[in-house]
Amino acid sequence: MFARLEAPEADPIIRLMAQFAEDPRHDKIDLGVGVYRDAAGRTPVMAAVAAAEARILAAQETKGYFGLAGDPRFLVAMRGLLLGDGVDPGRLAAVAAPGGSGAIRQLLELVRLAAPGATVWISRPCWPNHAAIADAVGLRLREYSYLGPAGDVDGAAMLADLDGAAPGDVVVLHGCCHNPSGADPDAATWAALTDMAERRGFVPFVDVAYQGFGTGVEADVAGLRHMAARLPEMLIAASGSKSFGLYRERVGLAMALCAEAGAAGRVGGALASLNRRNYAFPPDHGARVVTTILSDPVLRADWEAELATLRARVATNRVALAAALAEATQSPAFAFLTRHRGMFSQLGLHPEAVLRLREAHGVYLVADGRINLAGLTPATIGAAAEAVAAVLREAATAA
Ligand code: LMR
Repeated sequence: MFARLEAPEADPIIRLMAQFAEDPRHDKIDLGVGVYRDAAGRTPVMAAVAAAEARILAAQETKGYFGLAGDPRFLVAMRGLLLGDGVDPGRLAAVAAPGGSGAIRQLLELVRLAAPGATVWISRPCWPNHAAIADAVGLRLREYSYLGPAGDVDGAAMLADLDGAAPGDVVVLHGCCHNPSGADPDAATWAALTDMAERRGFVPFVDVAYQGFGTGVEADVAGLRHMAARLPEMLIAASGSKSFGLYRERVGLAMALCAEAGAAGRVGGALASLNRRNYAFPPDHGARVVTTILSDPVLRADWEAELATLRARVATNRVALAAALAEATQSPAFAFLTRHRGMFSQLGLHPEAVLRLREAHGVYLVADGRINLAGLTPATIGAAAEAVAAVLREAATAA
């Protein structure tokens, strides 16, 4: 059976994780996978998470199955976190899913069931798993322009491309902290995208994986909320991995905004059936932790305060790296870093330079030049900047 099976090429982010783990150098620097790290290089368990887990452990009497959609209290808590009270709950259908990627998979399978001819539009550049999942589900893919030459969102180019989307097409947008670029649309661009979705009839699919890492928990979903208040239909995927630090617990939410309650009932049934067929019951522990935190004012305040410190650390790293690169390269070329938000930016390096950084300097970036700013510490920022400057000098000399 397996004689001719070829293992698919690993996702570049996952491949990099393995390469980093195998590298014996003690001074290697991991700017690859999007995982938050503190100044000591650890990915902490957030205090509110630990407190919620202790509570759950003390009170839990059973690990019997919950419903296929997951715990309804989780669905309500996440709805509030994402949408506030700006949308009629009767128009929403939601299920818990294993992580943000699990939610994306379920929603794209839903699209395939509802509109098999739909094209999925993703930004160029984009997170590789959006394309990989759309491809696995069998949906057609197209890219839309996203960035201008200075590394900021080019709203006009984005809108010009999306003007070609057909009614019922799905347009994937990153709720905040665009992965990989770190450049987010401004409020005017979100408003223009909403107008265009209304006019052209495409369905925005907003992926919220970094809520709280941009400007703030509420501010980071302002664009999403603007759209949800206006549009008849939307898809929303959310992840608890980064915002709650629950990476390995696989906390995800797949949600659809429907034109009316009757459609929401049918979509909810379809999502529950997709859960059943793909993995039956969604994981519960991490979802329960999130629900416990969001429903308790003290734990919620504690979580938001800790998340604010994580956000501030990443923002500080941005400023420090931009300064270190300006010094090391004697050029203002990296000033855009301070305009971006969240864990990622792309350094605009050629793949050869990315390879050289890894091989000669032990600095690990994704092949598209994406760096995870949370991977830097005060002790490594200078070395990382010097390494980038060195490979740029080499490339200039070779040219
Ligand atoms: C990333 O982009 O590095 C993270 O979202 C982790 C992943 O699953 O790719």
